[in-house]
Formats: sequence, C-alpha cells, structure tokens
Amino acid sequence: MASKWLLFTALILALNSFSYAAECSGKPSPTAQPNVNPIQTAPPKFVKSVKNGKLYTVGVGEDMINVVHVWGTPYEMGYAHGELLTEKAQSMLNSVWGYLEQQIKDAIDGKVDFIPKWFLNDVANLGLDAALGLEYEITNHYTGKYFEEEIQGLAAASGVDVKKIRDIHMIGELTKGSCSMFGANGSATPDGGLLQLRALDWNVDGPFKNYPQITVYHPNVGNGHAFANIGWTGWIGSITGVSSEKIAISEIGVSFPDDTFGKESRFGIPFTYILRDILQFDVSLQDAMKRLSSADRTCDLILGVGDGKDSEFRGVEYSHSVANFFTSDNLKPTADWHPMIRDIVYWGMDWLCPGYSVVLARQLTAYHGNITAANTIQYVVPIVQTGDLHVAVYDLPNEVLYVANARADDETGPNMAYDRAFIRMDMATVFSEQPPSP
Ligand SMILES: *[C@@H]1O[C@H](CO)[C@@H](O)[C@H](O)[C@H]1NC(C)=O
Ligand SMILES: *[C@@H]1O[C@H](CO)[C@@H](O)[C@H](O)[C@H]1NC(C)=O
Repeated sequence: MASKWLLFTALILALNSFSYAAECSGKPSPTAQPNVNPIQTAPPKFVKSVKNGKLYTVGVGEDMINVVHVWGTPYEMGYAHGELLTEKAQSMLNSVWGYLEQQIKDAIDGKVDFIPKWFLNDVANLGLDAALGLEYEITNHYTGKYFEEEIQGLAAASGVDVKKIRDIHMIGELTKGSCSMFGANGSATPDGGLLQLRALDWNVDGPFKNYPQITVYHPNVGNGHAFANIGWTGWIGSITGVSSEKIAISEIGVSFPDDTFGKESRFGIPFTYILRDILQFDVSLQDAMKRLSSADRTCDLILGVGDGKDSEFRGVEYSHSVANFFTSDNLKPTADWHPMIRDIVYWGMDWLCPGYSVVLARQLTAYHGNITAANTIQYVVPIVQTGDLHVAVYDLPNEVLYVANARADDETGPNMAYDRAFIRMDMATVFSEQPPSP
C-alpha cells in the first residue's frame, strides 16, 4: 500500500516537473541599482497644429517625447498623424519593415527562435511579402474596419505604402517580447487605489527606441472615447495605453507557457488591435472581460486590464483556447517563486519565469502597503530590470501617467528605459485638449 502510494507520488512529481520543464532562464543582476533620476513634471509644450491634429512635446532634454493629438474620423486621425510627423513616420515605418525582414531572415538561419514555424513555412513557400499579405488577409476578417481607414489616412499623408503599414502591424503576432506587469490595490497601496505597471521588454537593438510617441485619439462621437496610445510614431496598434475611462492595459508575450494555455491560432484578431479596442470602446472592466472572453484569440499572452473608477484589476491568461481571469486571490501559476501577495496581481517577464518573478515578488512584498508610482519607479522596475524599451506606471484613480523610454541612438545616459528619467503626465488635462480652431 505504502509503496504504491510512493510510486503514485513519484509519478505525479515526475509529471509536474515535466510540464514545468521549459522555464525562462534569465534573471536580473543582483547588483542592480535604484533609479534616482528626478521625475520630470513640466506640462507638455505646444509645437504646431494642422487641420485635425496638434503636436506637443513632453519631458526635457534627451528624455523628450512627442505627444500627438488627433481628432475626427479614423481616416482624418490617421491623416493628421502622418501630416504632423511626415518624415518621422516614413523613417519609423521603413526601419521597422527592415527590422522585421532581418528578424525573419535570422529566424530562417536559425539565429533567433521566436518567430512561429507556420509563418516561416509561409515565407519559404510564398516569399516574405506574400506571407505578410496572407497574414493580413487572415486577420483582417476579425479586425475592425476603422483600423484600415486610419492606415489609409496615415499612408496618404506620409506617403508610405498602405501594405507596408499593414504588414508592420502584424509584428506583434510574429515576434514575442517578454514583459512584466502588476496591478496593486487595497492593502498594497497607501490609499487603496489601483496602481498598475506595464514594463515592455522588447529588443532595444531594433528601431523602436528612436520613435517614442504618445498618440492621443479624440474620436468623433459614436466611435469611442479619448485614449492615449503609448507607442511609436506611425504605430496604431496598442500594447501600452490608458483611456479617459481610466482603463489601462498591460501585456506580456508568453514563450514559456504551461499546458493550461492550450492552443495558439493564427485565425483571429491581432492582440494589438483587441487591446486598442479596450482603450477606445470599453467603459468598464466587465466590458473588457467580455470582449476578451468572446474574441477569436490568437497567441499566448498574459494581459492586464485595470479600471481606476473602482480600482479593480484583472490579469488574463490569454490564448486561442482560453481567457482565464485572475485576481490576487486565485493567482497562477502556483510556485514557490510566484507567491500570492495580498491585493497584488503580478508576473515577471513570462508565465514560467522564476528568476524574474521571484525578484518582482520580493520588491512588491518589501514595499507592500506603500506601493506608489515613485517607489515602483525607484525600487521595483530598476531592481527587477524590467521595461528595457518602455515603462508605463498608471496611477489610474488620479489619472496620472508616468512613462520612460529606452535611450535612442543619438542620446546619452543609461540604455534601458527602467534606468532613465520618467515623465509625469496629468492625463485628465491631456484628454480635455481642445481641437485646433479652424
Ligand atoms: C482590488 O481589486 C480586486 C480585484 O479586482 C477587487 O476585488 C477588490 O475589491 C479591490 N480592492 C479595493 C480596495 O478596491
Ligand atoms: C513609503 O515610501 C516612501 C518613499 O520611499 C517613504 O519615504 C515613506 O516613509 C514610506 N512610508 C511608509 C509608511 O513606509
């Protein structure tokens, strides 16, 4: 009897260690230092306006970023974006295209392993251009037509080919960035309000770091509400952003899932578009949960959605097969390196990523009860070394955004966004910006 029980236990252990075998192997440097740069607080500075758009900058010196306001129909908003920053949009779209091409070449040569096999097969059979075209055709069926209209406007004003703009927006489905997030409320924060982190760890050797931009959409009535898309010039999908409904998004590309994720699929809405739909159209966390549950989902991700109106947050295990929602009470995966922390939902870099998750858990525990934007910026992201390309900290109830970007090619100072100066933005003021007078 006892020996049977032992055998059974050994078998369960073996199965467990089998399904947990593929884990990411990285971890932050044990000598990582706090980020002591003062937070920049000056209001945005006006640069110029066009018919349906206004350009501001925020931040000073080398940490300055463009803030682009656009108004009107999807076409008009895309057009104003391309009109305000024509050369920058051309340069960004062309260099991202070149970067995507290089990544795929490297994947074919076996130098990188994060491009899905089905896509490499398409490239082998059809060539890159047609493979990207096919990917667009497949996902277009699931995508709101306002994206295409906005791309048409952006193309018309910037002179960049429509197909190139479409193709670049497939990059999220084709490459995977590891990232980190948390949502902290209740006993974890000084006033119980929700504080949310989105740390983007994508390739800082790529072109993105040279084009940081916050695009603030003011759509016409009936087409959603104002929201800020934190990304790059020429980029209209969302991976980071916050809306005037106090809803914000976080996202992690999952390369180390466990079997609870089930299957991936290429037939569905690109995740950068569903995240943008949450920002543009959803007025509650329940709306966003419904949207994610009922969508034709594609690849393995962890998403985070926060709602500052009632300080609620959900982490989402997201794949073609599942949309599972987590609070701090049912957080997964269960592991000694991913302890449950009261009123905090968090993941470090990936689903199965002990090296980073354990340090994130340690810092969140050390500052529990005092998790503020300032402490996150000073003691969490730089010590976990997460958010190399950009970091957004959302103080949702107070409508304040803190953002930092990686060092651009022509800048000096630390390389990684998490070590650089953060810029504070009062989003209530940003969202109430008035359109240019005719
Ligand atoms: C914190 O978030 C959880 C999950 O969204 C929610 O159930 C809880 O009510 C929130 N706590 C506070 C104090 O808002
Ligand atoms: C919260 O953190 C700040 C900044 O690190 C510190 O000055 C303050 O004493 C902390 N408050 C508590 C109650 O721990």
